[in-house]
Amino acid sequence: MKHLVSIRDISTKEILNLIELAQDIETNPHAYSDRLKGKIMSTLFYEPSTRTRLSFESAMHRLNGKVLGFADANVSSAKKGESIADTVRMASAYSDVIVLRHFLEGSGRIATEYSDVPVISGGTGIQEHPTQAILDVYTIHKHFDGLDGLKIGLVGDLRYGRTIPSLLYALAKFSGIEIYLFSPPELRVRMSVMNDISGKLTTYIKQDLKSHLPELDVLYMTRVQKERFPDEASYERVKDFYVLSGAMAQTMKKESIILHPLPRVNEIAYEVDRLPQAKYFEQAKNGVWTRMALLTTLVGE
Ligand code: CP
Repeated sequence: MKHLVSIRDISTKEILNLIELAQDIETNPHAYSDRLKGKIMSTLFYEPSTRTRLSFESAMHRLNGKVLGFADANVSSAKKGESIADTVRMASAYSDVIVLRHFLEGSGRIATEYSDVPVISGGTGIQEHPTQAILDVYTIHKHFDGLDGLKIGLVGDLRYGRTIPSLLYALAKFSGIEIYLFSPPELRVRMSVMNDISGKLTTYIKQDLKSHLPELDVLYMTRVQKERFPDEASYERVKDFYVLSGAMAQTMKKESIILHPLPRVNEIAYEVDRLPQAKYFEQAKNGVWTRMALLTTLVGE
């Protein structure tokens, strides 16, 4: 593994190695506190972020590395028309690893062509969010001590949400998982993604979430991605298609978990946060351990 711009580029073994390393880091973070001493990470974020950028920065600081970069491309020379390629060349000269979030499909792949140092996608358009998939799988694996035989429901904007393809590709590397896909018809998983996972995952396309809640082990809610819609009216039609209330969540099994890549808007009521199944903030925290594991693997000696 030199770069990570698609979860499809890494093997099941590499995912399991990252999970194992992240578990060790979470248990004993101080043992890793000098692992990236003297190394520098660039964060090039052309789209807004809270969790991905801050957890990468937290991970690098906890490994005793240093961080530079921009959280808003408008304060970089992209504003003057500089290409991704040239910006990446510069970041590659100034640092030991690059984390890139960009709205363009293929931007991660382009970056790898112009960088001498590892490139990690922090989210690529609607295409992929590979490090989110690693922390999602880590959270599920940690809770159930494995993935075999789980029934996982993915809910909401399965078309534009980039965490969905990455999570599906990651889960397709494991056996015995059943995936229930809940969305309005216009927000179904893109056909290209369905083709990619065909024969590797058992999937069911559904609409009625309520009746399936008691069966699910994992409920993975997603935000409807307003910024990706062609117009306001199409967004308004579907924005509240699924709203998980406390009463709905209480019909789930006691040992089930509710995840969300966050940010949430309206799709999980705040009353759900108090339920034991609500694990989305813990999930986001797991982003630190998994990103420490990834940075150590890609940049460590
Ligand atoms: N899950 C996620 O990517 O969150 P941010 O957009 O806040 O980074």
